[in-house]
Amino acid sequence: MSKVTFKQSGKTLEWTGDHESILELAEANGIDLDFGCRMGNCTACQQPVLSGEVDYPMGHTGVPEEGNQLLCCSVPKGDVVIDA
Ligand code: FES
Repeated sequence: MSKVTFKQSGKTLEWTGDHESILELAEANGIDLDFGCRMGNCTACQQPVLSGEVDYPMGHTGVPEEGNQLLCCSVPKGDVVIDA
C-alpha cells in the first residue's frame, strides 16, 4: 500500500483507495490545505511534491508550477512526499 507523507504537517498516511484524491485524504486526517474548484482547473490546490509520482485518473486542465502537483484530482503512484 502506498504511503503519502505530508512533510510540514508531520503526517504519513496510508493510501487505501477510500478517497478520491490526495486532497481528500489530507482533509480526512485533519490537514487543511488550500483548494478552489476541486476539479483540476484553478491550480489553487497545488503543492510541491518532493518525491514520488502522482496520477490524474480524471485528467486536469490547470497546469501546476514546475515541481508541484494538483492535489484535488491526483492519486499517489507509490509512495509520495508532499511539502505541505
Ligand atoms: S482545487 Fe482547483 S485545481 Fe485543484
